[in-house]
Amino acid sequence: MTLWYGGDYNPEQWDPDVWKEDVGLMQRAGVNLVTVGVFSWSSLEPAPGQYEFGWLDRVLDLLHAGGVRVDLATPTASPPPWFSRLHPEALPVTADGVRLTHGSRDTYCACAPAYREAARGIARALAERYHDHPALAMWHVHNEYGTTCYCSLAAERFREWLQTRYGTLERLNEAWTTAFWSQGYAEWADIEPPRKTQYLVNPTQYLDFRRFWSDELLAAYLEQKTELRKLSALPVTTNFVFGGWVPVNHAQWAAEVDVVAIDHYPDRSDVGAEEQTAFGADLARGWAGGKPWLLMEQSAGTLNEGHRLHTKEPGRMARHSLSHIARGSQGALFFQWRASRGGAEMFHSAMVPHAGPDSRMFREIAKLGSELPQLAEVAESNVEADVAILWDVECWWAMQGTHLPSSSLDYLAAVRSAHRRFWHAGITVDFAAPAADLSSYRLVVVPSLYLISDEAAAALTAYVESGGQLVVGYFSGIVDPDLRIRSPGAFTELLGVRVEEFHPLPDDSEVVLSSGGRGRLWSEHVHAVSAEVVDRYAGGVLDGKPAITRRQVGAGTAWYVSTELDDAAAAQVFELSASPVEIVRRRSGDTTWTFVFNHGDAEFSVPDAGRLVVGELPVPAGGYAVVRST
Ligand code: GLA
Repeated sequence: MTLWYGGDYNPEQWDPDVWKEDVGLMQRAGVNLVTVGVFSWSSLEPAPGQYEFGWLDRVLDLLHAGGVRVDLATPTASPPPWFSRLHPEALPVTADGVRLTHGSRDTYCACAPAYREAARGIARALAERYHDHPALAMWHVHNEYGTTCYCSLAAERFREWLQTRYGTLERLNEAWTTAFWSQGYAEWADIEPPRKTQYLVNPTQYLDFRRFWSDELLAAYLEQKTELRKLSALPVTTNFVFGGWVPVNHAQWAAEVDVVAIDHYPDRSDVGAEEQTAFGADLARGWAGGKPWLLMEQSAGTLNEGHRLHTKEPGRMARHSLSHIARGSQGALFFQWRASRGGAEMFHSAMVPHAGPDSRMFREIAKLGSELPQLAEVAESNVEADVAILWDVECWWAMQGTHLPSSSLDYLAAVRSAHRRFWHAGITVDFAAPAADLSSYRLVVVPSLYLISDEAAAALTAYVESGGQLVVGYFSGIVDPDLRIRSPGAFTELLGVRVEEFHPLPDDSEVVLSSGGRGRLWSEHVHAVSAEVVDRYAGGVLDGKPAITRRQVGAGTAWYVSTELDDAAAAQVFELSASPVEIVRRRSGDTTWTFVFNHGDAEFSVPDAGRLVVGELPVPAGGYAVVRST
């Protein structure tokens, strides 16, 4: 049992003398895993088919001699300049038709056969060279799959994907509602990716392209995985990107990686960063199906707030790392080990900053590195949560279309707001897929689930009938997976309400409820058909109409909340009270590890009797503690 600790290591920027110093410092810092070679393609293959493995041999040997394991990457997120020169058709094209040039990273189209062949080639060459290197712990395919392309090669692949999905043009025309605006397709060849067009793009065409792109990238990942698997049985992973951007269906991809790994860069400098840390970590655990996962990248010393770097205050890096571990991560890794000596990310923080090891940053890194081995046994435990929030990336993509009744409707914001409320109450939540078995949860929250399948609607009904508490948020159950309007809505019967009209609100206005609570962003003309009215709109055009309803169904209860409630009103519905501490429990058999993070101003005494493993008791303001009890 090990918790991994380390980060991306990009030694090709440095002389071999620095490599030796690096390994010494890694030992001082307790580093046990580094990701090598993520962006090394031009150093590994400076000309087509001409490999230069000597430097990497030396790096891996040095790491091995120093007891540091390696997560060896395939460098396919950044093809070298020669590749773009020889294969200009593999450079990506934006939605408005601009073909990008070399000079950054990720300048490739995953649909270009030349790119796919070259990617398989370098993966194969790495597997042949290093499959039995003793330093190897896992394989890291590519980096943050997501780059999108709208070129003619992508268009061809998209058409093939659509043929598989729909079989006939008749079926596609129906699903895309192409009778509207004269879009009926008579030839597959007429279908294009959702490139820039005159006005609003067809929403289902847009959503299908997102689905297709995720599947296409998955196929590209699997081709590389196959090359590695031919020679190696070690775990294979790829780092999922997360932020305001989820370009692929990570929940679906999770089945194809041996370890779910995420990169996580909160973009707030206040306590919002802690809350985002919890959000991303809980989501990663959801993608992993409740199993452990790995924080592959985070920033050591800074938070990116807008275009400004905010330095993480003393202790914050450790808190963020441990919060990920509390929520199921099998360790804490960073981008990157040593700050870059130049290039586009020269000011990105690192475990070894430009100031060198005689720095607060490195001392904090080394301190955390000395604490993690004491927590090693949590690697085999599971996180406890009895509340779930539904998460569906297809619903998010669908709501990124340009056709919604309010441009302020924001799926990610609605999900985050639900998560934030539980986080502030110190309650750990899981994220679950809409059609998942939810029977282990006492409460399930469904924020703005605009798109829902019949299967998911049935699963939610079964959950309530067998005793669950379900809270459905506004703008849910509106369309099927083809984005065709459901009439009646998917939740009409379960909730016992009929929604007659939407009343989207201007950004600067709110509605008042008879309880005194407030709502913003959205309101609806709701009829309580067989539901009890819990709260009503007060004043305005919806005066006296139901705003929040509740219906007993079988042994459970189904609530409907038709507006974006303010925190106080939401706290009442969910029976939440603010907690200054974040408490997360991981359990294995009879042993429980209680992670406590004190975000308040006063010290906090931990009620669980047990042995302090790391941190301090009572937990000082801004501090943390992990207590083990049996
Ligand atoms: C991503 C990438 C890294 C690096 C960091 C910077 O996560 O994977 O290569 O660019 O962002 O934050």
